[in-house]
Amino acid sequence: MKNRLDELKDLAAEARKGGGQKRIEDQHKKGKLTARERLEILLDEGSFVELDMFVKHRSHDFGLEEQRILGDGVVTGHGRIDGRLVFVYSQDFTVFGGSLSEAHAEKICKIMDMAMKMGAPIIGLNDSGGARIQEGVVSLGGYADIFLRNTLASGVVPQISAVMGPSAGGAVYSPAITDFIFMVKNTSYMFVTGPNVVKTVTHEDVSFEELGGALTHATRSGVAHFASESEAECLIGIRKLLSYLPQNYREDPPRLKPANVRGDKDKSLNTLIPDNPSKPYDMKDVIRLIVDDDSFMEVHELFAQNIIVGFGRLDGRTIGIIANQPAVLAGVLDNDASAKAARFVRFCDAFNVPLLVLEDVPGFMPGTDQEWRGIIRNGAKLLFAFSEATVPKITVITRKAYGGAYDVMNSKHIRGDMNYAWPTAEIAVMGPKGAVEIIFKKDIEKADNPEEMEAKLVADYTAKFANPYIAAERGYIDEVIEPAETRSKLIAAFQMLETKVDANPKKKHGNIPL
Ligand code: HXC
Repeated sequence: MKNRLDELKDLAAEARKGGGQKRIEDQHKKGKLTARERLEILLDEGSFVELDMFVKHRSHDFGLEEQRILGDGVVTGHGRIDGRLVFVYSQDFTVFGGSLSEAHAEKICKIMDMAMKMGAPIIGLNDSGGARIQEGVVSLGGYADIFLRNTLASGVVPQISAVMGPSAGGAVYSPAITDFIFMVKNTSYMFVTGPNVVKTVTHEDVSFEELGGALTHATRSGVAHFASESEAECLIGIRKLLSYLPQNYREDPPRLKPANVRGDKDKSLNTLIPDNPSKPYDMKDVIRLIVDDDSFMEVHELFAQNIIVGFGRLDGRTIGIIANQPAVLAGVLDNDASAKAARFVRFCDAFNVPLLVLEDVPGFMPGTDQEWRGIIRNGAKLLFAFSEATVPKITVITRKAYGGAYDVMNSKHIRGDMNYAWPTAEIAVMGPKGAVEIIFKKDIEKADNPEEMEAKLVADYTAKFANPYIAAERGYIDEVIEPAETRSKLIAAFQMLETKVDANPKKKHGNIPL
């Protein structure tokens, strides 16, 4: 028996060494942790249960039969985060560069299947040179097996990807199908084709970092939702993100006890909106003054900053926040902002996260650039996403709600449950100046003093339309509220909406304008 126990211990020790000490040191020199070190930070202490530690590849080509390393380049299993079950895989770059073989893919698929059965989130820590080149098509098949599972799991359990090294070629598509992508600055990159191929095909000279680094994807492409300073920050970020989410679509998000509850009135909200309607203010100040202290976690912070999305808590309950940002491009809705917000709304709706919309939007962005890139198609995504969402949905109009953007931002007409406006709200087809210049164009041209006439007409229009009361007369706004009461109103309203039941017509699936 003793020999048998020793054999087991030896094998486990060998598996834990991965590609060996030298490659572990190389990994550290690059500023990267090993697959197992990452899991130690990610999971509750002592909670990791490893599966398939002794799996080996089955390839006999190109000398691979001489290098059959236990675990085959990926550590898989389950563990706990804040006591809640999660399934994880962590690619081990020290073994064939974390490349994906048939056996490596089978290990990942196994824990994905288990996560679906158990109704628990899937977290993938990616650090891989892509398809195991020596294995050829079976490795490509392995990728496709994972993509299929990512797709089937979408909307069933939350799926989170961290890219902590290379993710190239088709390997990018598994993270891309998942709900959130974390990247680490300076050590991770994602691209469909690397700098060498880019150079050959388009003659562009571009570095790895510029082409597909964390900041590139967090700011320009929007592929990454989070760009972390370090691997530890990234892994702790994943733990934090999960604290807002349910385990699966059948559950509600966990309710925490609010750590620090302010008085429900915050008077500074009453003076936050500038008197001049074209002056910006920071909507993040509004968010912080409304949600539980330190509970706001912004998603896509660096991308399309004219709209803010993220999670927060109100009296301990998770909410998803979508807020126009008047401090960036006046909070206008453009292509990227529409797509960013639409995706977030759909995630929240899939996982029973109630929605709070804070609205100050002058409309959709005009211009050839926006039209030619499809603002019609992208704006429609947001309209579709809000319209189909059946979770509790509340809107607070803080200032402008003009034109189509009024309809889109969770208006009453598309099933907003509670629609509030501050007294500073301006709800109209368009801004006063633009409206007057269209309606009274000829009269102004003919006037003895066109400027004086225009100013008077703008003042009249403002007095008549730039307020919340016409919408409130129709019941499009349920209540005009004092800004300082917003937090207490929202807490009460979300509590009232806790038992909301709403559904969409029976169908196979809708056809969101992708
Ligand atoms: C097998 C691989 C490998 C791969 C790396 N290695 N990538 N082995 N298949 N895809 C091995 C290396 O041989 C080396 O082995 C070890 O991993 C570390 O690699 P290095 O090159 O020394 O590391 P580094 O300098 O950090 O460069 C990392 C890298 C580079 C940029 C990722 O390895 C690289 O370019 N790899 C190939 C990337 C690629 O073209 N993959 C296929 C993409 S196509 P030793 O024994 O020396 O330690 C694809 C299709 C998927 O993925 C389609 C799905 C639809």
